[in-house]
Amino acid sequence: MEPVGIKTDSEWGKMMVTSAVARLTLGPEEHAMTGFFLAAIGRADQITLNHSVTVSRLSEVLCRGMGLNGHTPEIVMAALFHDIGKIGVEGRFLAHDGPLEPDEVRALQAHTTLGGHALSRMFERETVTLVACHHHEKYDGTGYPAGLAGDEIPPAARIVGLIDAYDAIRAKRNYSPARTHDEAVAVLVSARGTHFDPAVIDAFVRTEREVASAFAEIHAAIDADSAALQH
Ligand SMILES: [Fe+2]
Repeated sequence: MEPVGIKTDSEWGKMMVTSAVARLTLGPEEHAMTGFFLAAIGRADQITLNHSVTVSRLSEVLCRGMGLNGHTPEIVMAALFHDIGKIGVEGRFLAHDGPLEPDEVRALQAHTTLGGHALSRMFERETVTLVACHHHEKYDGTGYPAGLAGDEIPPAARIVGLIDAYDAIRAKRNYSPARTHDEAVAVLVSARGTHFDPAVIDAFVRTEREVASAFAEIHAAIDADSAALQH
């Protein structure tokens, strides 16, 4: 069944949303709402939709590697919506290619709490809300929005936060070039125990080959779709 309300511009966007939703166990209302909100993310910002689906797929690989099978579907769903609060952030901050002013940084960081509030009203799934709210916390307590440290950070947010950083490092942005898988792994490992939970980093290192091939598979499809859209 195709989710209600999918009207993204690209075939890939439509396929991504459909296949992401098919991986979840959802009631009919949640199913419709999930499709609707993913399509809304795609309409607002195709890069955020690509990122959300990539983070969701790679979080699934890491969760399975950690043996979290029972919790995996909920974390996969949480990963899909972790950046939904960006719909409420002005596009000029998201596409910015230089340093931001302090009030712009605050506006951008608000995507965590905005997303968390919206998701707590949309779904009765605590993990989904917690991941949106806390995926930018850091293990040493220097992250945002709450400055949580160590085990205070919800476990699912530690997992999705790591994969989020991996995809951000690999992606080409206005302000930074795309980096290779090995470069991304080196950056993440160097932040073991500061930005990232050591146990999650260790699990990531054990599954890194699978992460790399899932990333390559998704990005081949994204590139083929953007090439098709340009013709
Ligand atoms: Fe985020």
